[in-house]
Amino acid sequence: MKIAILPGDGIGPEIIEQAVKVLSALGEKFEMETAPVGGAGYEAHGHPLPEATLKLAQQADAILFGSVGDWKYDTLERALRPEQAILGLRKNLNLFANLRPAILYPELAGASTLKPEVVSGLDILIIRELTGDIYFGQPRGMREAPDGPFKGAREGFDTMRYAEPEIRRIAHVAFQAAQKRGKRLTSVDKANVLETFQFWKEVVTDVHKEYPEVALDHMYVDNAAMQLVRAPKKFDVIVTGNMFGDILSDAAAMLTGSIGMLPSASLDANNKGLYEPSHGSAPDIAGKGIANPLATILSAAMMLRFSLNKPEQADRVESAVKMVLAQGLRTADIHEQGCTRIGTNEMGDAVVKALA
Ligand code: IPM
Ligand code: MG
Repeated sequence: MKIAILPGDGIGPEIIEQAVKVLSALGEKFEMETAPVGGAGYEAHGHPLPEATLKLAQQADAILFGSVGDWKYDTLERALRPEQAILGLRKNLNLFANLRPAILYPELAGASTLKPEVVSGLDILIIRELTGDIYFGQPRGMREAPDGPFKGAREGFDTMRYAEPEIRRIAHVAFQAAQKRGKRLTSVDKANVLETFQFWKEVVTDVHKEYPEVALDHMYVDNAAMQLVRAPKKFDVIVTGNMFGDILSDAAAMLTGSIGMLPSASLDANNKGLYEPSHGSAPDIAGKGIANPLATILSAAMMLRFSLNKPEQADRVESAVKMVLAQGLRTADIHEQGCTRIGTNEMGDAVVKALA
């Protein structure tokens, strides 16, 4: 099985190195090939998603992705910015289903900014549609306003749109995920204002007929944001569009107090996937050896489970991470009094050791 390794920018390379270490320690025969992406792709080949990198990603069975982005690329034109690499991979590989679990590890209960009773035991899954919505809708651009009260003024515009099959396939993924968990699904929309999301709600309601054992409710996105910080444990699985999912998944991640712990998977219709930590490239701490590699290691575990069909190895990696936390080992971002503070490399080594 072939894994494309795309370290990217900022802390990407150092955290990916740890995940590769863990994968190599499993005793499996994985072929791993590395390619530059994001700012690194731009430096090497003049494009954030070089052709060879895209080709490698297309050929591989799974992709392990670090992170992209650095302030030094902020002045580049949009098409050359590091973020285009991840957007391009999602679109080109049809990775429409983004799974973002937010789990609070008991050992890290103190890391949340919310009261422990609000978040202890938190285990929710956000499923974000990833290849449609206002992120990719055409037309978009900047122009002279053709009409309206500001006719003739410069304006920026984007298009929010969802086609029925697009909504159906993500709804199926969400209902099936809910079936395997607590059997509750919340579909988040803005049906009170937007046609796109009134339609979304109709289609999700229709797909629900095929999953009578799952309890479905609908929630407006503003209320969902409020409920996520008020009573997050009331949720089981949340399904929503690309834009709302981007925002809500950051909020959900922070409930756990440790975005450095959260993995994610972006899957196509055949469970080929791209796996990446939920956090960004953190250029401010890049190269210092203090970044938390656990989100990337846990992303590798998701890869073993969903794309490489090695669920027992996924369990092993996840258990090893829990063991390391139980041993009191912490990187700076999750460090608390009484724990042992270690660096990126030591954390990778500790997980490898715990595997045995
Ligand atoms: C994410 C990120 C990306 C997004 C950016 C980097 C394009 O915020 O994966 O959530 O908006 O989808
Ligand atoms: Mg985001």
